Amino acid sequence: QVESDLAQAVRPGWLRRWGTTSRHLTLGQLVGMGRFGHVIRARLKTSAGDVTVAAKEVRTRDGPCYRSFFREAAILVAVHEDRHHDNLRSNIIQLLALVNESTKTYIVMEYASKGCLLRLLQQKRRQNRPHAQPLPYNSNLRYAVHIARALQELQRLALTHGDVAARNVLITADNVAKLADFGQARDVYTTVQHVSNDKRGKEPADRDTNNVGHEVLPLNWMSVESLETGEYTCQSDVWSFGVLLWEIATLGREPRYGGNNQPTCHQLARTLRRGVRLRRPPDCSGEMYDVMMSCWRESPPERPVPNVLETKLMQMCHTMI
Ligand code: ADE
Repeated sequence: QVESDLAQAVRPGWLRRWGTTSRHLTLGQLVGMGRFGHVIRARLKTSAGDVTVAAKEVRTRDGPCYRSFFREAAILVAVHEDRHHDNLRSNIIQLLALVNESTKTYIVMEYASKGCLLRLLQQKRRQNRPHAQPLPYNSNLRYAVHIARALQELQRLALTHGDVAARNVLITADNVAKLADFGQARDVYTTVQHVSNDKRGKEPADRDTNNVGHEVLPLNWMSVESLETGEYTCQSDVWSFGVLLWEIATLGREPRYGGNNQPTCHQLARTLRRGVRLRRPPDCSGEMYDVMMSCWRESPPERPVPNVLETKLMQMCHTMI
């Protein structure tokens, strides 16, 4: 079932306009497994020649997988058909085509050859690169600037991502970070995600787990109001962006609010209301932690808007040189 609200957010005929035949797609190696489908490196035949692309395949045509496909496709179309959108400078993964045939359903997008930011951060940690410099001196901060720009693009279109996290940021060959994985995205007018209580206590989603078809919520990235009411806004994306900064500062550690047991949705919301926040990572500067903490302010309007975050982080990048 197409999400009617989202379908209305894009101009009619979007599926046809972006549609291509699977005959133009030559599939190669599997490069990732998500909750709703595999991502396969592929070649796409275009009028300008063949290009390497990433094709996200929908696992099944029913239930959450297919809904997620339509959500993601419609959001990417809305972004790319926006007249202010600039493909070359965008920090949102570029949509190239959609395949919607009876047995083959793919979202075809630009190929980001350096893979996801989370893996990149964790590789750096494993290589034991001395993480001697405090965070502003860390080149990964540039990626945060890029994602702050992606949030501005979404804000202009009144769209929310709903799952801003290092696992959903891709890095291109020329080291540009792009926000991807819009399967949870929605427009701000349909902010309430209806999730039953039994689903609300589950472990946060991991890109590599096999939670086929379940709406598993990334609890530890979620704002207090999203945990309580299922409401998502641009300012709840800003909260998650603060957690992304924390992931960068820890080189890809898993955000946890103390203890080994994952609290339920309600428990976590109560903890956050009491003022508990993720701790300052060992190598993180006070200035950087202040930015994170501002993203986690209890009241959404008091959190910085994406362009203020971009300016602040850019200043921090420049003072490091
Ligand atoms: N993994 C998931 N999406 C990808 C993409 N667009 N490029 C490369 N790897 C990916």
